[in-house]
Amino acid sequence: MPNAYISGTGFYVPPKVVTNDLLAKEYGIDTTNEWIVQRTGIEERRFAEEGVGTSDLAVPAAKQAIERAGIDARDLDMIVFATLSPDHAFPGSGVYLQRKLGLCDGDSPKFVPALDVRNQCSGFLYSLTVASSMVQAGTAKHVLVVGAETHSAALDLSARGRTVASLFGDGAGACVVSATDEDRGIRGTYLGADGRGADVLAQRVWDIKKRPFIQLDEAGVGHVPASDLWAQMDGKQVFRNAVERMIGVLMQACADQGLTRDDIDLFFFHQANLRINQYIAQQIGIGEEKLVSNIQRYGNTTAATIPILLAEAEQSGRLKRGMKVAMVAFGSGFTWGAAIVDW
Ligand code: UT7
Repeated sequence: MPNAYISGTGFYVPPKVVTNDLLAKEYGIDTTNEWIVQRTGIEERRFAEEGVGTSDLAVPAAKQAIERAGIDARDLDMIVFATLSPDHAFPGSGVYLQRKLGLCDGDSPKFVPALDVRNQCSGFLYSLTVASSMVQAGTAKHVLVVGAETHSAALDLSARGRTVASLFGDGAGACVVSATDEDRGIRGTYLGADGRGADVLAQRVWDIKKRPFIQLDEAGVGHVPASDLWAQMDGKQVFRNAVERMIGVLMQACADQGLTRDDIDLFFFHQANLRINQYIAQQIGIGEEKLVSNIQRYGNTTAATIPILLAEAEQSGRLKRGMKVAMVAFGSGFTWGAAIVDW
C-alpha cells in the first residue's frame, strides 16, 4: 500500500484588504478595532470583488500547489473541493475548477472525478481524508484538495450582523496529495460530527420543505428573510464546543499514533478565533511557538484556513521536510477533525 503525502501546497487571497477600522467606517458595522482584536485576534481580512466566485479564488491556489508538486494539472486523478460558499447551489465548485484548470480542453481532456465536500471549517480535513484514502487504496496517484471560500458575499455588513460579519474573510488554499513509497506522509486522520449542534451555526437561505422553497412575489422575484440569508451563530456555544472537540480529537490522534504533544513540531489549528487556539494550547501545554497562525491577517476563511496556513508556512521555510505536524479543525455541524502528518 503506498503512503499518501502532501507533495505541493498553494494559496491565494484576493487583494482587497479590509481592516477592522474599514469594516466600521466603510461598511457601517457598529464595531471597533479594539473589540475585534481583543475577542478574536483578527486585525484584517480579504474581500473578493463582486464578479469573483469561489472557484476563481481556487484557480491560482490550485495552480501553485500543482506546480510545487512538480506535476502537470493533467496528472491529477481527482479533485476534492471543500467549501460552504460554492459558486452556485449546484453543481459543485469542483467541476468549475476542473474546467478553469483546462482539464476539459484539447484533444485529450482529463475528465477526472470532482467531488464537493460540505463540512464547513472541517471541510479541508474531511477532504484530506478522502484524498489520502484514495491514494492509499491505489485508486489515485495525485489528488488535488482545495478549500476556498467567498464569505464577503454573504455577510450581514450592518450593525445587526456585527458578531458574525467581523469574523470571516475570503481566500483559497490547496494541496496535492500524492502516492509515495517513502516512509512519510499522512499517518492518520480522525473525524467526528455531532448533529445536535446543527442549528447552532447555520446559514439556511432556503427551506426545501417549502413549496416553492424560496417564496416568490407577484413579479416572480424570490424573497429570503434576513434571518435565513445571513449565517446565524450562538458564538459562546460554538466556542465551548470548539475547545472541547479540538482537544478531544487531538488527544485521540496522538494516542492512536503513540505520540505526545512534545513529539509534534508544528500545530496547524483551524483559524476561527486566536483566543480559542491560545486557550487550547494553554490547556494542553503546547508552547505558542509551535502554533501557526494567520487569523490576524485573513480572519476565518473556513475550509481554506488550514491549507493557506500550510502553504504560507512551507513558503516561508517554517514548515520543513521531516517535521511532524498536527492539524485540527472544528466547525458548523458540529464537525471536527485532526490529521497527523510526517512532512
Ligand atoms: O469556525 C467556527 C466558527 N466560529 C467560531 O468558532 C466562533 C466562536 N465564538 C467566538 O469566537 C465568540 O463567541 C465571538 C468572538 C463570536 C463573540 O464573542 P463573545 O464574547 O461570545 O461575545 P457575545 O456574542 O456574547 O457579545 C458580547 C457583546 C454583546 O453586547 P452586549 O449585549 O453585551 O451589549 C454584543 O452585541 O459584544 C457585542 N458584540 C460586538 N461589539 C462590537 C458582538 N459583536 C461585536 C462586534 N463589535 N463585532
